[in-house]
Amino acid sequence: MLDTYSAKICCADLYSSELARFILGDSLHPGGLRATNRLGRAMGLQPGWRVLDLACGLGASATALSRVFRCHVTGLDLGADAATASRQRALDEPIPADVAFVRGDAEMPPFRSNAFDAVVVECATSLFADKPAAIADIRRLLRPGGVLGLADVTVESGSLPPELDGSVGMMLCLTEALPAGGYPDLLESGGFSVSHREDLSGEVLSLLADLRSRLALVNGFGGGKSFGAADWSDFPPDILDRAEDLVRRGQIGYWLYVAHEPA
Ligand SMILES: C[S@@+](CC[C@H](N)C(=O)[O-])C[C@H]1O[C@@H](n2cnc3c(N)ncnc32)[C@H](O)[C@@H]1O
Repeated sequence: MLDTYSAKICCADLYSSELARFILGDSLHPGGLRATNRLGRAMGLQPGWRVLDLACGLGASATALSRVFRCHVTGLDLGADAATASRQRALDEPIPADVAFVRGDAEMPPFRSNAFDAVVVECATSLFADKPAAIADIRRLLRPGGVLGLADVTVESGSLPPELDGSVGMMLCLTEALPAGGYPDLLESGGFSVSHREDLSGEVLSLLADLRSRLALVNGFGGGKSFGAADWSDFPPDILDRAEDLVRRGQIGYWLYVAHEPA
């Protein structure tokens, strides 16, 4: 039995695994950088702002936000290789970005109070064990009047079938996700004022379509590709149909929210 911290590390390492990259690419959320830029615009990010990308994964969003909005972006992630891989990816790209990456727990963020003008959390709030405490910490990190951009997968209560409750469901941020109305409630209860909400659920359908073609490619080359603990031979064949059906029926979605810390 893993303690809470070891379970978090284990979950974080799953996201830098070959399986996660195979499913999601480098941008580990529906809509990729298109959704990230949309979130940055809705937040009104300004040049020179200090931005924290909490649970930044492989650093794709942090690097893009720094370039597009000319902000200084710090990315924090718990994954063993996330900070190193993010630093390297930023260095490898031809256009420089003003980014820094740190390994740490988003639920115990190692930053002083009022350190940031804005915080971005994409596809990670759903993974936090104590969501209200995480939101309270984000408030602490923001300067008065600072802005939070939260994007996450939504799952309406009781709608997740057992076949989407395992490691693939966790990879897609489904297993601990809140309903679409749950995130604004969480933010408002934490003292934020929600100013924008946007339904990008169509991006989940695109992600599932990408996944379907990647699986077809793997199977076309002989199938049976194994990813450590997870193996595509265990992948229930109708799981993508089920997930697509749930998205079309509004049971699974992807939403963006912008909220302000009171000035
Ligand atoms: C679905 S990925 C999203 C990554 C990134 N935000 C993106 O959209 O590309 C979830 C990320 O949250 C990270 N994570 C989960 N719990 C965390 C925690 N308590 N502290 C720091 N990172 C965490 C994982 O390591 C993983 O990189």
